[in-house]
Amino acid sequence: MNSIVPKITSILLFFFIISDVVRAASPPGTFNVFDFKAVADGKTDSTAAFADAWSAACNHTGPTATYVVPSGSFMVGPVDFAGPCPAKLVFNIDGKIIAPAVLKTLPKKPNNWIMFERLVGMSVTGKGSFNGMGAGTWPSNKRNGKVFPTNIQFSNINDSTVEGISSIDSRMFHIMIYKCSNLKLTKLTITAPETSPNTDGIHIGLSNGITISDTDIGTGDDCVSIGPTNVGITVTGVKCGPGHGISVGSLGKFKDDKDVTDILVKTCKISKTMNGVRIKTWSKSFPMICKNYTFDDIIMSDVENPIIINQQYCPAGNCPKSVSSNVKISDVKFSNIRGTSATPVAITLLCSKSNPCTGLSFEKIQLKNKVGGAVSNSTCENVVKPTIIGVVKPALNCSTA
Ligand SMILES: *[C@@H]1O[C@H](CO)[C@@H](O)[C@H](O)[C@H]1NC(C)=O
Ligand SMILES: *[C@@H]1O[C@H](CO)[C@@H](O)[C@H](O)[C@H]1NC(C)=O
Ligand SMILES: *[C@@H]1O[C@H](CO)[C@@H](O)[C@H](O)[C@H]1NC(C)=O
Ligand SMILES: *[C@@H]1O[C@H](CO)[C@@H](O)[C@H](O)[C@H]1NC(C)=O
Ligand SMILES: *[C@@H]1O[C@H](CO)[C@@H](O)[C@H](O)[C@H]1NC(C)=O
Repeated sequence: MNSIVPKITSILLFFFIISDVVRAASPPGTFNVFDFKAVADGKTDSTAAFADAWSAACNHTGPTATYVVPSGSFMVGPVDFAGPCPAKLVFNIDGKIIAPAVLKTLPKKPNNWIMFERLVGMSVTGKGSFNGMGAGTWPSNKRNGKVFPTNIQFSNINDSTVEGISSIDSRMFHIMIYKCSNLKLTKLTITAPETSPNTDGIHIGLSNGITISDTDIGTGDDCVSIGPTNVGITVTGVKCGPGHGISVGSLGKFKDDKDVTDILVKTCKISKTMNGVRIKTWSKSFPMICKNYTFDDIIMSDVENPIIINQQYCPAGNCPKSVSSNVKISDVKFSNIRGTSATPVAITLLCSKSNPCTGLSFEKIQLKNKVGGAVSNSTCENVVKPTIIGVVKPALNCSTA
């Protein structure tokens, strides 16, 4: 036995030396983009280096593969971090990743720049950033017009965490969460100018068990938007503004849109936004259910519509009075919401005539009109008598339903 050990050691040593020559000095299981010829000058195209490092990482057969983007600026086109991979993936991203001015998207893929897909138990950490260089395309990004890539998409990612990274100046959405389960995002920073079109911060669709915490979002559209077919979404410690607020919707437009239930939005600060917390459904809509929502401990500052349910969404303006939303909203609690409204109407409840909102509850609401602290007021249509607990200002007048 004893005589074999040194032999094995020297054989192993030999292989380490050989692999060192071939692939530079990273420890086994670590895949550093520098080892694949990435150039950190912010202008040399490093797309191939990122892709090659990914191929190697995803083919790694140890328990963990660590994908490393060190400090420095890297210009990369679309990258697809697609699994499945045998190892658990750890992404250590400290570098500034920058999109090229002309950004082609991946062939036969959704419109994304950076994509993570089909991974389980992965983590993304680091102080790195993803800059979509959106300023160059925003002028041609008209509403319902041309579609530009999402900065970062997580698609079919389970039991995973994303921490610390930033998304800057996306061309369209910053972060899209699609068909994910048990995904936690924390301590992210998301920034784009207030005037940038369709730059939603985090959009969630077809997912369950998503948590967003301790995250700063200032952008040109919704800070967080929760689309159709979602269960169990928690948003806490989010600072939102500028932007359009934290929104569920728009819901009910497509036949396949399924229920959105079990939503918790807690301890958030929303300032200088179009909306605070919002639920929005199309006036003409397919049937579905919104149930069990809590909006708790939220500070509004200079928000145009601090609390808004709008089931009469009809942007083309072609909805006859006889049409009313088939989305059924129930069990929605608003509590400890305070601060200032930028308009006289601080609470807007426009529910569906055919499916009035039921089980709404309001507890400790104090929303002042920011103009000289004047009293704000409310609008209420098609709401079955809401529960009022403690002081609720502005008062609600829902005598119509
Ligand atoms: C793994 O390696 C094979 C052979 O080199 C390659 O074809 C494949 O694309 C690699 N896997 C990934 C995920 O890139
Ligand atoms: C993630 O979980 C869902 C079920 O919630 C499953 O359908 C999907 O295949 C899983 N994805 C991966 C990559 O394992
Ligand atoms: C309501 O949603 C919360 C998450 O926001 C969840 O913890 C709770 O179990 C749900 N309640 C019911 C009755 O489903
Ligand atoms: C709310 O206040 C505005 C401005 O004072 C006023 O125009 C509007 O009619 C009021 N709405 C209700 C429902 O009282
Ligand atoms: C409540 O609404 C009803 C019907 O719109 C209206 O007649 C009544 O004056 C309102 N009450 C208050 C206190 O605003």
